[in-house]
Amino acid sequence: MRTKIVAGNWKMNKTASEAAALIAGIRREVAEVSGVEVVVCPPFTDLKDAAAACAGSNVALGAQNVHWKASGAFTGEISAAMLKDLGVTHVIIGHSERRQYFGETDETVNQRTRAALAAGLVPIVCVGETLAERDAGQMEAVVVRQTLAGLAGLGGDVAKVVIAYEPVWAIGTGRTATPEQAQEVHALIRRTLAGLAGAAVAETIRIQYGGSMKPENAKELMAQPDIDGGLIGGAALEAESFAAIVRAGV
Ligand code: PGA
Repeated sequence: MRTKIVAGNWKMNKTASEAAALIAGIRREVAEVSGVEVVVCPPFTDLKDAAAACAGSNVALGAQNVHWKASGAFTGEISAAMLKDLGVTHVIIGHSERRQYFGETDETVNQRTRAALAAGLVPIVCVGETLAERDAGQMEAVVVRQTLAGLAGLGGDVAKVVIAYEPVWAIGTGRTATPEQAQEVHALIRRTLAGLAGAAVAETIRIQYGGSMKPENAKELMAQPDIDGGLIGGAALEAESFAAIVRAGV
């Protein structure tokens, strides 16, 4: 069976000293939890302190983006090797905010995913339709396209990826997809993964739901057969609410 994975996407929140305090709270709250993978993804500037705060705990460390080149003249960018060196094990790729505000494309998502895998990082590849796309009946086409393009050419490494389905209309809006709506898309993504890597591999790949996941709705969402955890924004910024979501995955 798939081990659930709950990751906190802190976005552009928390200074390094705030991060250390939040992680200390999270590690206390989840110390006794087993059977759920727990990941926190603070901003780049927090990672060194966050790594120290996570050390020796069941809380793993992720980043929110990675560049595809190993090094060079790419002002403002961060390589996979730099993340690895700090103790980072996971990295969010292609979040809708990066697609919307920073020109991220399916192609750059694919390049970043390859770079992460080559460095031994677990990519959390985000897909999801906007409200306009859903209303126009394009949800399936968008989600399938983003999944296939983001994972193109990975071969057997597809098995190492985590997918996050985040309907853009549910992010930060308080408007969650119903468990049935989310399950429908998760099943679609798993069928797409089966087409890419075979049904047996697709059965092992974790697909997180993201978009206003909270302690109140997490259990019902994660009870769906193809929902294998969550990518949490707002509710990941407090130890109690994040830990409650983690426990909902047990
Ligand atoms: P939210 O964000 O939980 O605040 O909706 C989720 C995300 O964008 O990853």
